[in-house]
Amino acid sequence: MTIIAVDGPAASGKGTIARALACHYGLPCLDTGMLYRAVGLSVLKAGGDPDQEADALGACDFDESMLDDPALRSEAVGSLASRVSVHQSVRQSLIKRQRDFATQPGGAILDGRDIGTVIAPDADAKIFVTASVHIRAQRRYSDALAHGGHPDMDSLIADIQARDTRDMSRDHAPLRTADGADLLDTSDLSIEAAIQRAIALVDAQLEGRRKV
Ligand code: CDP
Repeated sequence: MTIIAVDGPAASGKGTIARALACHYGLPCLDTGMLYRAVGLSVLKAGGDPDQEADALGACDFDESMLDDPALRSEAVGSLASRVSVHQSVRQSLIKRQRDFATQPGGAILDGRDIGTVIAPDADAKIFVTASVHIRAQRRYSDALAHGGHPDMDSLIADIQARDTRDMSRDHAPLRTADGADLLDTSDLSIEAAIQRAIALVDAQLEGRRKV
């Protein structure tokens, strides 16, 4: 069984890298941010307050079909996800599902914020993907343009900074580089180069584990 943990801040490229690794190693992949996004969107739909722990916890038994809702991908729902994810009980209620996915026969790849630190601290390989705030905002800008949106660079930068601050400073499972993780800064890398680098880092970690 091979478990690969991919963590990092918003728009760092971790989702793209996790999917490419899944394809390369033939493993199933879970974007754990979608679970927090589904909780965030459910709170909104129920008219609740994402900052209230009881409201956020009540939204954790969201309908499975919500995971296919395209609205989950929006920047607004990303912020809601970041707000509901500070609550300990919300994180706790999503742990089993993530651990079950990680420990399925053959293994899996999960991407998120706390995969290498909390969900799968014994993962066979761990990568922390990052990039400068400006580059990450630029990527969100290009994505939004490509999808017919009218993005504003200053508000994208402010949103990313606010999300980084909230994710890194929360009490429970804050975003940080896990012990044993390799750092992959994608600021100056093309998607293809970032993927090749990620594969090289994972190969080296898997090889290192085989030797011990
Ligand atoms: O795609 P992007 O990196 O913008 O965000 P995401 O991975 O979909 O995660 C949305 C929010 O959910 C993050 O800002 C985190 O606050 C939260 N999250 C978390 O707390 N733990 C995870 N394992 C995944 C996401």
